[in-house]
Amino acid sequence: MKVLIDEDAIRQKVKELAGRISEKYRGEELVVVCVLKGAFIFAADLVREIEGVDVLCDFVKASSYGMNTVSSGEVRIDYFPEIELEGKNVLIVDDILDAGYTLKRIKEEIEAKKPKNCEVCVLLNKPERRAVDVDVDYVGFEIPNEFVVGYGMDCAEKYRNLKCVAIYEG
Ligand code: IMP
Ligand code: MG
Repeated sequence: MKVLIDEDAIRQKVKELAGRISEKYRGEELVVVCVLKGAFIFAADLVREIEGVDVLCDFVKASSYGMNTVSSGEVRIDYFPEIELEGKNVLIVDDILDAGYTLKRIKEEIEAKKPKNCEVCVLLNKPERRAVDVDVDYVGFEIPNEFVVGYGMDCAEKYRNLKCVAIYEG
């Protein structure tokens, strides 16, 4: 396991992203939709750094079929936000934008609920791996094409509790 992004760099980046989000939505209501499971730690840290915004939190759970490290493009929605999204500002928060299938599908499902506005925030972006186009509004870090774990992200459900983002080397 090799550290790619350490705890301090993550904390600083989360503050920076939360600052931009706070500025954009100051005095308004914002429904933060955390993509389970991988984004749970990032979203928890991010919402606590957002200031001057009425933040509501909900979740979406999607899975691509199979347990392998390469996503298949078939995305199933297992849980969808209970909070009414129509007419709301919505911010989808995910851990990593990889091939893009998951976020694309989630964004389409959320947009179908006719929110006032729908933005996407990801901690990590692996641009080399993109298979479908997804518009992302806030990106923490661009990373190379490596499988990473920690800070919520897993390999077969392990390593989510690491404080840093690390390259998984088997
Ligand atoms: P995709 O964009 O549909 O390929 O799938 C993205 C999802 O796959 C992410 O939200 C993660 O949950 C998972 N994922 C992709 N790359 C990695 C990685 O390097 N480590 C851990 N999970 C990953
Ligand atoms: Mg995910």
